[in-house]
Amino acid sequence: MVQLKTLAVAALEAAAVLAAPSPSPQDYNSQLAGRGNTPSKRPNHRVFPFHPGKLFPPSPPRQKTCYVKSKGKGRDDSENVMDAIKKCNNGGHVVFEKGTTYTVGKALDLTFLKNIDLDIQGTIQFTNDTDYWQAHSFKHTFQNATTFFQLGGSDVNVYGGGTLDGNGQAWYDLYAKDIYILRPILFGTIGLHGGSISDLNLRYSPQWYNLVANSSDVVFSNIDIRGGSQSKNPAKNTDGWDTYRSERIVIQDSVVDNGDDCVSFKPNSTNIVVQNLNCNGSHGISVGSLGQYQGEVDIVKDIYVYNITMTNASDGARIKVWPGLSSALSGDLQGGGGLGSVSNITYDTMTVGNVDYAIEITQCYGQKNLTLCNQFPSNLTIKDVTLKNFKGTTSKKYDPLVGYLVCSSPTVCGDIRLENIDVRSPSGTNTFSCGNIPGMDKQVNCTVAAGTGGSTSAPP
Ligand SMILES: *[C@@H]1O[C@H](CO)[C@@H](O)[C@H](O)[C@H]1NC(C)=O
Ligand SMILES: *[C@@H]1O[C@H](CO)[C@@H](O)[C@H](O)[C@H]1NC(C)=O
Ligand SMILES: *[C@@H]1O[C@H](CO)[C@@H](O)[C@H](O)[C@H]1NC(C)=O
Ligand SMILES: *[C@@H]1O[C@H](CO)[C@@H](O)[C@H](O)[C@H]1NC(C)=O
Ligand SMILES: *[C@@H]1O[C@H](CO)[C@@H](O)[C@H](O)[C@H]1NC(C)=O
Ligand SMILES: *[C@@H]1O[C@H](CO)[C@@H](O)[C@H](O)[C@H]1NC(C)=O
Ligand SMILES: *[C@@H]1O[C@H](CO)[C@@H](O)[C@H](O)[C@H]1NC(C)=O
Ligand SMILES: *[C@@H]1O[C@H](CO)[C@@H](O)[C@H](O)[C@H]1NC(C)=O
Ligand SMILES: *[C@@H]1O[C@H](CO)[C@@H](O)[C@H](O)[C@H]1NC(C)=O
Ligand SMILES: *[C@@H]1O[C@H](CO)[C@@H](O)[C@H](O)[C@H]1NC(C)=O
Ligand SMILES: *[C@@H]1O[C@H](CO)[C@@H](O)[C@H](O)[C@H]1NC(C)=O
Repeated sequence: MVQLKTLAVAALEAAAVLAAPSPSPQDYNSQLAGRGNTPSKRPNHRVFPFHPGKLFPPSPPRQKTCYVKSKGKGRDDSENVMDAIKKCNNGGHVVFEKGTTYTVGKALDLTFLKNIDLDIQGTIQFTNDTDYWQAHSFKHTFQNATTFFQLGGSDVNVYGGGTLDGNGQAWYDLYAKDIYILRPILFGTIGLHGGSISDLNLRYSPQWYNLVANSSDVVFSNIDIRGGSQSKNPAKNTDGWDTYRSERIVIQDSVVDNGDDCVSFKPNSTNIVVQNLNCNGSHGISVGSLGQYQGEVDIVKDIYVYNITMTNASDGARIKVWPGLSSALSGDLQGGGGLGSVSNITYDTMTVGNVDYAIEITQCYGQKNLTLCNQFPSNLTIKDVTLKNFKGTTSKKYDPLVGYLVCSSPTVCGDIRLENIDVRSPSGTNTFSCGNIPGMDKQVNCTVAAGTGGSTSAPP
């Protein structure tokens, strides 16, 4: 008994020494709160096999440790979280303890972070006070996106094996009554320059799971995303990741089970690598939608998507661009007439199973009348797109079709290559619906999409 106690104390001291070489008196109290809980070692996930080119900035070791206290019983821990983070900013390591649930009921502005590790071993659950969050969540204008918190700054590592829980059920049920409510995004990476986010479970997000905006040099690894509704009201718009105004972002080695895009590249996403993902139930890995806002210029370029398994999804690879005229897809989704370009996009190696379209390219997004779309071609061009090494089977939904390749005009779309596409429908066909993409019928079996004038082989 005595011996055991001594050993435990010795282990605690050893851990404290390792984590905090020179604890100051005020650190001592916060270390006591962490009794029996050792800081995690920062993981070292390799960016592999593809890389956005430039080396990521280095992240020096941290020199002090702060433990986040929990009030328990669902009481709001927002202040404790903020206190620990402020105390350990500029060179420290913040531990959210294993086995502890932290309740967060306040919008946390964490854009001041610098040289800090957030070691989330426990669970952080956001309250489901839908009135509070609609009033106080961070508003990002683009697509009316809002977030529970915004994490930004430089040199930030988040890891620990724990969970962020968006407590989404109240939101799924409220959205069913009113599509105009502002549902927060679970994880807001806003203005982060240099950092890693890994080894986390993301659960029950009210809307998208991740928004990565105004950020650069951020690597996401080993993220497990799932959730869903317990009621008859589905969890809608639960994209895995959306990138916006960001460059040199890597998303890798992760599992997503959701009901909307697995990953989506929104306006001004450049130099992005997505690799080794297993996506289930999603709308695919999507460029766009783009060109939604009249007069705005959307650029998406230099994207590499590699080694994706896509099951039970509406799409595998998808590029969706609005046409030149305005149209409404639904009350809360309308647009068209935006400017810009999609270029240098590669989808390499994808296995599909029970996916409606293995590949879908549309420049008539939101406009079902293709004749009308052709009359007002998109102001956002698509060029230099490679899709290669696809295999698997689509769903019955569009059988005999396995994909859809329709632009608004050959003058604003071209240089699209499909190579080694070994995808079949359940009935064994491999036909694509094609329109306005010059040369496509030389690459795959095409059937001409109605209303497109059949210009699949005419040069631009
Ligand atoms: C990004 O930065 C721009 C310019 O500073 C700012 O207007 C915008 O609100 C920021 N956040 C997002 C999500 O775009
Ligand atoms: C935001 O939502 C409102 C409806 O509440 C809609 O009219 C508006 O177009 C949306 N804004 C954006 C930027 O999507
Ligand atoms: C809100 O969250 C609490 C804590 O998780 C839960 O007990 C309660 O049932 C939720 N309320 C709704 C309406 O979902
Ligand atoms: C592809 O990704 C899976 C994880 O989804 C991984 O197990 C596998 O090793 C990867 N294959 C290649 C060739 O990188
Ligand atoms: C995949 O999605 C299907 C239906 O969309 C669901 O029934 C199944 O449980 C999911 N599987 C996994 C492993 O998430
Ligand atoms: C995207 O980049 C283009 C070109 O640099 C710029 O004109 C446009 O304003 C940017 N859009 C956003 C939303 O940042
Ligand atoms: C195209 O994008 C890839 C990254 O996917 C990049 O390595 C390459 O340099 C880009 N090509 C051009 C011509 O910019
Ligand atoms: C999901 O996909 C897997 C693999 O293709 C399949 O075994 C399973 O039956 C699918 N689930 C549904 C609900 O279609
Ligand atoms: C599609 O648009 C064309 C051109 O405006 C119009 O003539 C036609 O009636 C429309 N078709 C349908 C089904 O609305
Ligand atoms: C956008 O496209 C429409 C229809 O194709 C065209 O009438 C308009 O001039 C274009 N606008 C710009 C700014 O290029
Ligand atoms: C087109 O379909 C025919 C008949 O099924 C098949 O023999 C041929 O290989 C297909 N061509 C391509 C490019 O897949």
